[in-house]
Amino acid sequence: MADQPHIRETGRRALVTGGGVRVGRSISLALGEAGYRVAIQFRTSQGDASATVRDLKRMGGRPLACRADLAEPEQITAMFEEVDRQFGGIDLLVNNAAIFPHSDPLAVSPSDWDTVFRINARAPFLCAQQAARRMGPGSSIVNIADTGADEAWGGYVPYVASKAAVVSITKGLARAWAPEIRVNAVAPGPVLLPEADSGEEAEREAAKRTVLGRLGTPQDVAQAVLFLDRAPYVTGEVIRVDGGHHLK
Ligand SMILES: NC(=O)c1ccc[n+]([C@@H]2O[C@H](COP(=O)([O-])OP(=O)(O)OC[C@H]3O[C@@H](n4cnc5c(N)ncnc54)[C@H](OP(=O)(O)O)[C@@H]3O)[C@@H](O)[C@H]2O)c1
Repeated sequence: MADQPHIRETGRRALVTGGGVRVGRSISLALGEAGYRVAIQFRTSQGDASATVRDLKRMGGRPLACRADLAEPEQITAMFEEVDRQFGGIDLLVNNAAIFPHSDPLAVSPSDWDTVFRINARAPFLCAQQAARRMGPGSSIVNIADTGADEAWGGYVPYVASKAAVVSITKGLARAWAPEIRVNAVAPGPVLLPEADSGEEAEREAAKRTVLGRLGTPQDVAQAVLFLDRAPYVTGEVIRVDGGHHLK
């Protein structure tokens, strides 16, 4: 079935930032399978974005890949103009792209701080602005936050601060843009460890920090995104997908 054209379009159009790799790829595939037309943003991972486009086309979808550096506001605008041209509008934005640099707080320069905030907090906000200008009633935005947003991570202070900003942006925009546009977030726990930190030992340690005793999957995050887009009475909410890590 997976390789047979079987997708039935619902008319809903989505943009997933970082939608060709890892968690973003699973979100793109889940939305495509559910009948959304999906625009997949990439910056450097053109091969992965193209592979995701190919996979969705094989299933009968009509996806789109678009390149943009989300640190550059004019590239964000151009990306939304392209989605408009190809899809004629947008109903769901998934702000998934982010960077996750490890850093000693004493070594973080102003420019390091700005880079993290430009990509992880300003870009989701600017993308939400662009989306909202084009969205009609019944549309939604789902931001990908992190359970770390309300934890103490000494080696990732700019990152967790940027994810706390994402939660704040989620709540503020949910209020500002109600009732037309709902704005929610998913806060994943350990799902796919950063490639540099992966390996069985690191996975075992991460799994121990959950109450379910295992890592989540990118599909777990994707299902939460789909749920939030389909939940007409949910806005300003942050759903943890963390195997109960927050209970430890
Ligand atoms: N993985 C986890 O277990 C986990 C846990 C908690 C939260 N999260 C959150 O879930 C989301 C996805 O996580 P992930 O691990 O799958 O992400 P990832 O692989 O680290 O990054 C996703 C994408 O972000 C894009 N990106 C980075 N800087 C960019 C820029 N300046 N302009 C445009 N795109 C840029 C990259 O695109 P290119 O490759 O095209 O350059 C990258 O493919 C992130 O928001 C992350 O913070 C993940």
